[in-house]
Order: sequence, then structure tokens, then C-alpha cells
Amino acid sequence: MRIAIVCYSLTGHTADMASEIVKGIEEEGAEAKIFNIGKAPADLEYISSCNGLIIGTPTYLASSVWQIKKWLEEDSKSIALGDKLGGAFATAHFAQGGQDTAIMDILGQLLVKGMLVYSGGGSFGQPIIHHGPVALDKVGSHYEESREMFRIYGSRFAKKAKELFHD
Ligand SMILES: Cc1cc2nc3c(=O)[nH]c(=O)nc-3n(C[C@H](O)[C@H](O)[C@H](O)COP(=O)(O)O)c2cc1C
Repeated sequence: MRIAIVCYSLTGHTADMASEIVKGIEEEGAEAKIFNIGKAPADLEYISSCNGLIIGTPTYLASSVWQIKKWLEEDSKSIALGDKLGGAFATAHFAQGGQDTAIMDILGQLLVKGMLVYSGGGSFGQPIIHHGPVALDKVGSHYEESREMFRIYGSRFAKKAKELFHD
């Protein structure tokens, strides 16, 4: 079971939370790799071989960054995304900063690609993850406290992928 995380991260918060997700995925015995497309192009061959794809974005202007939209629109064209489980997460500065809109933008695009999407959900109790996990970069202790939620999201996502793909 392999899961790819494609994110854009300029000042490191989104990539940092991606590494918490990896910990959760690995707890389930699955493999995961992070591709920060702000730093280097993603390995399309590796992503093609994955059962799951999680997209991470900072919230810019209450939306996902354009680099993620471009990746989904153009750069990922050679990948059969429709056979994968998808998810999305965001970091933001403000509690009311539009991070949910950013996540929903991405989930909508994954649906258009024919992907099944998964939020992390509430069916396992706490933490209830609504559309996908969110961390606020410098708001009190929220950022540090979010680490566990991101790890749990990774483990729930890997469990769901195993359920669907019978790994
Ligand atoms: C151009 C720009 C626009 C931003 N717009 C928002 C916004 O609309 N809402 C918000 O909560 N944070 C906003 N932020 C803050 C970032 O979402 C936040 O710092 C994020 O964690 C950065 O991610 P990174 O460290 O992975 O690059 C903005 C930051 C920049 C640079």
C-alpha cells in the first residue's frame, strides 16, 4: 500500500504537517512519500503506483494556492487519478481564513478526476475531522496541538485505503 502526498509549501508549515500524516500512514504499515511541488517536481511514476493521493495546500486568499490547481490541471495529466483514494488538508493563519474552502476546492477537483474522496471523518470519534485536517500556523498552541490530528488522519486514510483496495 503506497500513498503519495503532493503539497505546496513555501514557509514549511504545510510540508511539516504532511510529515505528521506520513507517520500515521506508516503506523498502518503502509508507505508514503511527500512531494513539495514548491521545491521540486513530483515523481509522477511513484504517484501512479499509489493507491492514495493526499493534497496539501496553504490557504491563500481563502482558497488553495494556484500551484496545486495547476498541478491537478496540467502536471498530473499522465496519472490515472480515477483509480485512487483522495484527500486534502490545509494550513492557514486565521481561524476564519478560508481553510475549509481551500480543502473543498481540492476535493471538488479530485471528484472531477473520478477519485473517491475521504475526509478522515467523525465515525471513529475524536478528533472529528470535518473535510480534512487544518493547522493554524501561529494561533496560540493550535499548530502544535494539530500534529496529533494530522497523524490520526494519516492512519485513518491508510486504513480506508486498505479497506478499499484489500491490501
Ligand atoms: C499570499 C498569502 C496569502 C494568504 N492568505 C491567507 C488567507 O486567506 N487565510 C489565512 O488564514 N491565511 C492566509 N495566509 C497564511 C498562510 O496560509 C499560512 O501562513 C500557511 O501556513 C503557509 O503555509 P506554508 O508555510 O506551508 O507555506 C496567506 C499567506 C500568504 C503568503
